[in-house]
Amino acid sequence: MITINVKAGHAHKQRDDAVVLPLLEGRKLTDSGKALQQASGKTIPSFLRKQDLSGSFGKSRTLYGVTGAFTRRVMLLGAGDAKKLTLHKLRLLAAKAARKLDAGGAQDVSLFLPELAVRGATLADKVQAVAEGIWLGLYRFDKYQHHAHQHNRTLQSATIMIASRRDLDEARLALARASAIAGGVNFARDLANEPGNVCTPEYLGEQAAALSHAQLNVTVMDRQAIEQAGLNALLAVNQGSAKAPRFIVLDYRGGAQADAPVALVGKGLTFDAGGISLKPGPQMEEMKYDMCGAAAVLGIFKAATELNLAVNLLGVIPSTENLLGAAAYKPGDIITGHKKDISIEIQNTDAEGRIILSDALSYAAAQQPAEIIDFATLTGACVIALGSHASGLMGNDEKLKQALKASGDFTYDRVWELPMHEEYQEQIKSDIADIRNIGGREAGTITAACFLSRFVGDIPWAHLDIAGTAWNMKGSELSAKGATGAGVRLLMDYLIRKQR
Ligand code: BES
Ligand code: MN
Ligand code: ZN
Repeated sequence: MITINVKAGHAHKQRDDAVVLPLLEGRKLTDSGKALQQASGKTIPSFLRKQDLSGSFGKSRTLYGVTGAFTRRVMLLGAGDAKKLTLHKLRLLAAKAARKLDAGGAQDVSLFLPELAVRGATLADKVQAVAEGIWLGLYRFDKYQHHAHQHNRTLQSATIMIASRRDLDEARLALARASAIAGGVNFARDLANEPGNVCTPEYLGEQAAALSHAQLNVTVMDRQAIEQAGLNALLAVNQGSAKAPRFIVLDYRGGAQADAPVALVGKGLTFDAGGISLKPGPQMEEMKYDMCGAAAVLGIFKAATELNLAVNLLGVIPSTENLLGAAAYKPGDIITGHKKDISIEIQNTDAEGRIILSDALSYAAAQQPAEIIDFATLTGACVIALGSHASGLMGNDEKLKQALKASGDFTYDRVWELPMHEEYQEQIKSDIADIRNIGGREAGTITAACFLSRFVGDIPWAHLDIAGTAWNMKGSELSAKGATGAGVRLLMDYLIRKQR
């Protein structure tokens, strides 16, 4: 990730390759822009007069050789209606500017924060949003492209310019927060973008172990340890794969000794072919992303450790492939996993996520955490219901769900709740075992959550179905094509608020 600093100062004095100034709807400059305008004499006013630049959101113009300024280019970046500015718009603008200047060959840039109030946000929030925008927007995964040097990165550093020196300390803290969080998101993206032949359960275990730290203890169980722990549901899904499974447990202690941890559980399917209930061919390659829940959990632990968050966390990641080797589990099989009093009839081997999660949730619940939050690319039905703009939220605890919704709105890593009325539980009744692993065509996202709910006991629990949000093959302003790192910013906001 490039270097980002914060500074207070005037636009015309900056010596960077580029200076970015906000321009509001109606061609209005903010204070920083007005100061430059004064120093520049007639250049900027005549430019504003001649050009058809309105200041509408996201539109930009770059001026070269502005008199009275040291910089080579001044980018006027349309921030839109001043009253409608949001933190998310700041993120988008920063990402846009950074990418454009990088492509244009700039090495360093000063970005002036719009001197405008954003409802519900502090200066620190604004600095954090801009820094996140730059770091997330510049992310690329091109290590497998030999000709990637053709679009080599030129941008080395960015300086976020704020109005007053008095706010510098606060801004620096915000920058450190953004650095850890964006680092966590980009780490999650890297893990998920790796293909299935590289990112295997073993590799996930190694990546998790590498996060070990004075406050973070990581245990990676191999097949034997998994057998000993009775994680038989994970083993059942693993039967069709030639690669050994892993069960990863992370124990982060940043809070009070006596505080029960927040448990974070992530689905770690490093490739999901569907098993004997084989998936159709088109887009099957995308199922290398079926470990995005695990990636999110690891990204959160990386960021939390870096920030020394004053909370206790328990991470649990079950990891395997879902393939169709000769020993593969089959429709009709009945299995019993870590939770001994629930038998599961397999009716579709492609509903494997809930199976390995049943062991992870049961294992986590046995440690008596304060609450459990799980992340999983669990159902295609969730993609149909919510598309790529919100993760599905379900759970058994109003307070926990409300807090996650608030963090989702604040970070724009958004969630939308689906109901879990008890009638839905009837869809997963089995004629021959206690429950079956599919619930029919209707309400597929909800019945998957109903299945999970059987394994958390009475512990407050929330489930995030990130099937539609965890990767995006179209790419967006903040996320290149591929893994998005969904869930990391959401949970970091949730945990930071918890610690206050
Ligand atoms: N990993 C998939 C869910 C998925 C599908 C995520 C498409 C993203 C895009 C999961 O393991 C799965 O296959 N679910 C099945 C469940 C069904 C068999 C009840 C599904 O959604 O089709
Ligand atoms: Mn599946
Ligand atoms: Zn899956």
